[in-house]
Amino acid sequence: MPIKKGSPDSDTDMGQMADPTHGARHIAIIMDGNGRWAKQKHLPRALGHKKGVETVRDIVRVAGEMGIKALTLYAFSSENWSRPADEVADLMGLLRQYIQSDIDEFDENGIQLKVIGNYKALDSDIVQLIDGALDRTANNDKMTLAIALNYGAQDEMLRAVRTIAEAAKRGEVDPQDIGVDHVSGALDTAGMPPLDLLIRTSGELRLSNFLLWQAAYSELYFTDALWPDFDKRELQRALQSFGDRDRRFGGR
Ligand code: FPP
Repeated sequence: MPIKKGSPDSDTDMGQMADPTHGARHIAIIMDGNGRWAKQKHLPRALGHKKGVETVRDIVRVAGEMGIKALTLYAFSSENWSRPADEVADLMGLLRQYIQSDIDEFDENGIQLKVIGNYKALDSDIVQLIDGALDRTANNDKMTLAIALNYGAQDEMLRAVRTIAEAAKRGEVDPQDIGVDHVSGALDTAGMPPLDLLIRTSGELRLSNFLLWQAAYSELYFTDALWPDFDKRELQRALQSFGDRDRRFGGR
């Protein structure tokens, strides 16, 4: 039986009604619109990205306070390398600063950092910084913050297929026995809760190669708000919309 949110049964549960997450455990966000935000204000693009990081900081805090278990943010796609070199350098600089300045707060708030995507291809000092932060926060269990870096869903799936094919070659798994759990377990998001809600800001209606496997049954939410303007109220609206949906997971 599907759980119909908002049905008399679920509405009698006061705990559920007071839950700011509306039952969402894992949210992912395509943070889009930094450039347009800057343009609207006649500011350089770099300032749009800078303001975007402030929004990241706020939303990570708010999501943790709400009790969201996992938050996945699309910070740098494998296609973003084609942006002008100075913009790529700006984004990498912001990433460095963000990890350095917020790592203590992650630890204090029980946030476990995770990175999805082929981050080992980033500059070696960033790889070191990330590896240190992953180690340091590995035992935190209040919320997982997964940052997608040099990430593309097709690349993630190809890497997972190769891992499974290697295991089959070694005779560890019969190809006929390969199932959904093998694939989920070989993806970068292994161990994270299923993706409940995928949000994209700035009015674009695309998935842009983000979490294509994981989004199979997640709810999609699109808002016109540009990422630097996305705030607690916007997140509450998205979660309210999620709470109002009737999730059937392919059943009736
Ligand atoms: C999209 O804006 C934004 C990105 C390229 C990714 C998001 C990056 C940040 C929020 C900053 C870095 C993040 C961290 C975690 C340190 P856009 O440039 O595509 O905007 P536009 O479509 O309006 O031009």
